[in-house]
Formats: sequence, structure tokens, C-alpha cells
Amino acid sequence: MKLRRFFIATALVITIGGLLVAQQNTSKGGVKQERFGVRDGRPVILYTLKNSHGVEVRAMNYGGIIQAIRVPDRKGNFADIVLGHDTAEGYMPNPPYIGAIVGRYANRIANGTFTLDGKTYNLPKNDGPNTLHGGTTRTFDKVMWESQPLKDKNGVQFEFLSKDGDDGFPGNLKMKVSYVLTDSNELVIDYEATTDKATPINVSQHSYFNLKGEGNGDILDHEVMINADKFTPVDKNLIPTGELRPVKGTPLDFTKPTRIGTRIDDSYEQLVLAHGYDHNFVINRKGPGMTLAARVYEPTTGRELEVSTTQPAVQFYTGNFLDGTVTGKGGHVYKRRFGFCLETQHYPDSPNHPDFPNTILKPGETFHQTTAFKFSAK
Ligand code: GLA
Repeated sequence: MKLRRFFIATALVITIGGLLVAQQNTSKGGVKQERFGVRDGRPVILYTLKNSHGVEVRAMNYGGIIQAIRVPDRKGNFADIVLGHDTAEGYMPNPPYIGAIVGRYANRIANGTFTLDGKTYNLPKNDGPNTLHGGTTRTFDKVMWESQPLKDKNGVQFEFLSKDGDDGFPGNLKMKVSYVLTDSNELVIDYEATTDKATPINVSQHSYFNLKGEGNGDILDHEVMINADKFTPVDKNLIPTGELRPVKGTPLDFTKPTRIGTRIDDSYEQLVLAHGYDHNFVINRKGPGMTLAARVYEPTTGRELEVSTTQPAVQFYTGNFLDGTVTGKGGHVYKRRFGFCLETQHYPDSPNHPDFPNTILKPGETFHQTTAFKFSAK
């Protein structure tokens, strides 16, 4: 009897939930919302932002994942230029962090530990001896975020309360991320956070791009410019050694546009250790504010991506760990180097490197970073 009542009650909740979401299945200020799946008993909502040029960005409240970005090539043909899945369930799990917001601490923390104000914190290790992208449990890429369309802009806002002790981090961290699509074909990502205890924070966006269109081969022919004279070399666990090394004279010199594939398999130690590019580049800056981080051009389609940011660095990752075990949109198999990421961020393992730019957020302070992806074709 009790069981029956439970089923009826559950059915009612699901139906009402479904109706509520179905009702929201409308365009409000350009932002379409639709039901995309279920997670933790809550509806996953997919938001579609579309601008006057027909450019489209789709993102969901699960992991803040960017599910699709549709932009034209030089002839006006649209393609989806990010790797991903056709359903929300396709991202559960999502070992390569495809499209997700990563944090509390994007990138690696050596040995899953750091000391702050005299106290040592231990985090779950999920990358050999390291903690990668914040840990294993309630990390930004695999939780349900509160979400709503923005009132005054073509965008959506996500909010998540990362609790004191989540994956070993101190403090209740209130995290807000918004995605705004402008009429100049820019996707502007804004991050804001406050905390009630000092905590490290490093947040990034983990979209894998292929400017030919997702699933359309590897990215080796893309031409990349990275506005960085220095990078942070890594050890065999991909942890920064602490050195800031000039890119000049190395295969990591992207100060002039260069094909990704030209030097990726050189015997240069840093490329061997990371199985390709998976490095933190220190952005050349004249001061704070938005600065150009990178520009990527794909010659066959003419599509171009320009990345600007307030962050100090960018991780250039060439999908070296994609190995064909993930089947994505339209049955496309994502093989090695089928996508690249430009993860704007602070340097990896900063909590263990006092001389790196500060990543500790204190109570009373507001963490604020912005990154813009600008799309064009020529
Ligand atoms: C980041 C890391 C890579 C890899 C991917 C996820 O880009 O730097 O080494 O772990 O995330 O596969």
C-alpha cells in the first residue's frame, strides 16, 4: 500500500515537474528553454541563446555544460564547433570534462594537498597522485546548478553553493557563472564567487573546439596564436616545476600563428611528458582587464576563434587523452586530438606555489573573472 502511494506520489511529482518545464519551453528574451533530461530527480534544462546572425549557444544547468555552439563558416554554412553529446545522460559520466565548468580548482593540485593559514587540507586524488579539476564528488562539472535566463541580456545565469568541506575544500563558496551571447558573435563567460572561509579557487570552461565542426577529424591543421612569451613547464605528473620558461626557441612558441600539428610530436621533453600540448601559458599583459589570450584559425572553413580574458593564464590542451572511447553527437567517435581546449585560468597548483599569482579567496572579497570567445570567419 505504502509502495503504491509512493509510486503515485512520484508519478505526480514527475508529471507536475514535466508540466512546469514544458511551460517554460518558450522563448523569453531570445532564450529558449527545454527539458533535456533528469539528474538527482531534477529536470535538466537546456538553454538556447541565439543572436541576430543565427549564431547559437546551448548550455545546461547540469555541470554548466556548453552542449553546442553553432557558427557559420566563410560561406555562411553553420556547424556545431564543440564536442558533446545529444542528451544530458551522455554526459553522465563525462571523464574528459567535455563542455563543463571546472572547479573549485581547475587543473591540478599536487598530491591532492595544500596548506592554508597553517592548516593542511586533503582532497580526493583523481589523476595519479594529483587532484584534477576539483576532485571527485561535488565538483562544478557534475552538479546541478540553479539556473535562470538573464533579464536584461541574451544569456543564462547558473548558481551553485559549494559547501564547506565539499571535496575537502574549506568554506561555503557561492559560485555564479553566466553565459551571454552578444550580437557581435561573442560568448561572454562571467564568473563570480564569495566565501565564508579562505579557500583556493580557480574556475574554467572546458569546451573542446573543432572549428571544422565536431566529429570532423582532428585539429592538427588549425593555426594557433597564443599571446604568451612564457609557460610553466611541468614534471612527469604534469605539475608545474615552478619555473617560468620563455617559449622562444621551443615548440611551445605560438607567438606567431602556427599549425598545431607542425611540432606536436617533437621530441621536446615537455611535449613528450604531456603527450602533446597540455600546458599553462602565461598571458602577456600590460595591466588588468580583458586581454587577448589566443586566436585559432581553421583554413578550410575560414572559421576563427578569439579568446580574451581577465585571467592570468590559459591551458592549451590538444585532446591528447581522447582515445575513441567516447561516442558523441550523431554517433561521432572522439579520437585523439579531435578537439582542443583553451582553458583560461590561474596557474596549476598555485596553492603550493606562493610565488604564482594568488588563488586564495577570503571572506569579504569577491572573485571575478571574465572570458570571451569571439567567433568569425574569413
Ligand atoms: C585538462 C588537463 C588535461 C586533461 C583534461 C581532461 O585540460 O590539463 O591534462 O586532464 O583536462 O581530460
